[in-house]
Amino acid sequence: MAIQPSVLLLNGPNLNMLGTREPHVYGRETLDDVEALCRVEASRLGLDLDFRQSNHEGELVTWIQEARGEHDAIILNAGAYTHTSIAILDALAAVDLPVVEVHLSNIFRREPFRHHSYVSTIAKGVICGFGSHGYVLALQAVSRLIDAQAQP
Ligand code: DQA
Repeated sequence: MAIQPSVLLLNGPNLNMLGTREPHVYGRETLDDVEALCRVEASRLGLDLDFRQSNHEGELVTWIQEARGEHDAIILNAGAYTHTSIAILDALAAVDLPVVEVHLSNIFRREPFRHHSYVSTIAKGVICGFGSHGYVLALQAVSRLIDAQAQP
């Protein structure tokens, strides 16, 4: 049986609080609900999915570093680290994998400090404002990127 392409999907700080955290901004779905949605879509697309969450910047950096040789693409909702973390940006640059950035909320409709993203400077594309459906769209985007890379 052919090996399926593998996607690392990382969630940053406070995303473990989904469901109860500012539901008017982030909705009522929990992170487990989002993971279940992603698993259905990943299986439909024939992707192997490694879905994780951490509140720690260094742990996210380590996981990104370890993705090299293990995964074919990264989907990242870095939470607030999106707007602050040069360390995460450097790790993404070091592994040289296609990156799709995702946010539940539309960060451009929110406070000005959310308008800048370090992740965007390296991401192939950004999906924001569609709630959990954005994760489904991000999986579809990485699937196409992986397919395109596989073309001779
Ligand atoms: C977020 C947007 C960030 O600005 C915020 O810090 C988050 C969640 C989103 O998914 O909308 O934690 O990444």
